[in-house]
Amino acid sequence: MPMQPILKVENLTKVFKSNGRPDFTAVDHIGFELMPGECLGLIGESGSGKSTVANLITRLTDMSEGRVLLDGRDITRLSGSALREAYRQMQMVFQTPTESFDPRHTLGDGIGESLRNFGACRAEVKKRVAALLTQCGLPAEFADRYPHQVSGGQCQRAAIARAIAIEPRLLICDEATSALDVTIQKEVIALLGRLREAMHLSILFICHDIALVQQFCDRVMVMYKGKIVEEGVPDEVIRNPKNDYTKRLIESIL
Ligand SMILES: Nc1ncnc2c1ncn2[C@@H]1O[C@H](COP(=O)(O)OP(=O)(O)OP(=O)(O)O)[C@@H](O)[C@H]1O
Ligand SMILES: [Mg+2]
Repeated sequence: MPMQPILKVENLTKVFKSNGRPDFTAVDHIGFELMPGECLGLIGESGSGKSTVANLITRLTDMSEGRVLLDGRDITRLSGSALREAYRQMQMVFQTPTESFDPRHTLGDGIGESLRNFGACRAEVKKRVAALLTQCGLPAEFADRYPHQVSGGQCQRAAIARAIAIEPRLLICDEATSALDVTIQKEVIALLGRLREAMHLSILFICHDIALVQQFCDRVMVMYKGKIVEEGVPDEVIRNPKNDYTKRLIESIL
């Protein structure tokens, strides 16, 4: 039997409506598949709709049109506990690590939140949080620190620990390393790579750095004005871009 995509997006569309101004189509009937264990890059200039795609998949934003299938199951109209259960499979890592945490709570509280929500007891949560921190390259004692008491790179490691706590199968990283300096960026990419292997994670990797995508992703999609204009193996797309926009995007970087 052919392998089934873990994530399938069909006809995904977002039209932002606002009073007075004309409607704006940020995501325009796009479709793609993400296979188990695959790392799929999504690149495109600022405003092309990348974050909106992530937010539509995770339902941070309501879609105007389209379907999202998880393991072949249509999750577009789920609600309540069925929705929570489906969304257990996917987690997001944002550009600004502090976005993942409540400044009034410790990192340990933040990392353990989803575990508590899914019924783990205090002692279990504590133990698991320590293991997650270690797995993400931080001392277990960091559980007691507040977000403002750690560096950006450390906070992003903690945000990754938080994202993998309930063992999702799909990680959506929206510019997860873009705010970090180059050395720390490399470390965080290495961490994501290790976790990807260890947990057989599938990753949607949104990024504006084509070199990073080339290094980290199996496949890349290029987005322009709400549409996916090109898709392929990163080396191929960079060497032989088919679309004019992709050519310009690559030339502007090289
Ligand atoms: N809530 C909103 N209301 C109206 N327009 C929006 C809203 N959110 C995003 N947009 C618009 O949709 C377009 C796509 O935004 P999006 O954040 O998805 O871009 P992006 O590709 O992630 O850009 P960046 O690389 O800067 O993060 C932009 O033109 C943006 O102004
Ligand atoms: Mg964005």
